[in-house]
Amino acid sequence: MPRILVTYGTKYGSTAEIATHIATRFTAADFDTDTLEANLGIDVTKYDALIVGSPVYASRWLPEPALILIANHERIHDIPVALFSVGMIDVKHPGKLSEEHDAWIEKAFTREEINLNIIATTTFNGAYHRRNLPLWMRIVDSILRITPHGDFRQWDEIENWADETVITLSGLLQGEASDAESPTC
Ligand SMILES: Cc1cc2nc3c(=O)[nH]c(=O)nc-3n(C[C@H](O)[C@H](O)[C@H](O)COP(=O)(O)O)c2cc1C
Repeated sequence: MPRILVTYGTKYGSTAEIATHIATRFTAADFDTDTLEANLGIDVTKYDALIVGSPVYASRWLPEPALILIANHERIHDIPVALFSVGMIDVKHPGKLSEEHDAWIEKAFTREEINLNIIATTTFNGAYHRRNLPLWMRIVDSILRITPHGDFRQWDEIENWADETVITLSGLLQGEASDAESPTC
């Protein structure tokens, strides 16, 4: 049974819930799945594939999910990795979150020569509640009203991506298993 880690960063919980939902799809497909908030104590090398997600704050990922990949990249370069970003900008500006996500991935991983075996990436709408903000930001937010409030997560999209990633990884990991089993001449 392939071992999968779904790991994430979160400040207010919306990404954690997305990660947990993705993990349920892997469990339903008979993957041995762990779901853990990202931290550098996790031994990522014991997994056959990693799903790593972060909310986007000021066009960047949170440090922990990024660092888990950066710190381990030499030991995981063969392990398939799927990435997802969660943010609010698409609610008003469709397509903008993918731009932020792609730019961030390029800057954090590709340009820094972090070697990762990225097999899928995507973005999801998140949730934004003024009550979570510090007082000064609540005041600014109530004046500027830049970001719409509410929960904009689309669970059917999240499920579809999880199920597509299950299929991709099943194919990849089965291929690897049969390569390992086939006798060499
Ligand atoms: C201070 C602040 C900055 C944010 N910056 C961005 C951003 O640059 N792009 C974006 O798409 N969403 C942005 N968001 C929205 C969050 O990514 C979104 O609310 C996400 O669901 C939060 O995830 P969490 O609940 O797991 O922390 C921002 C939210 C806050 C409060």
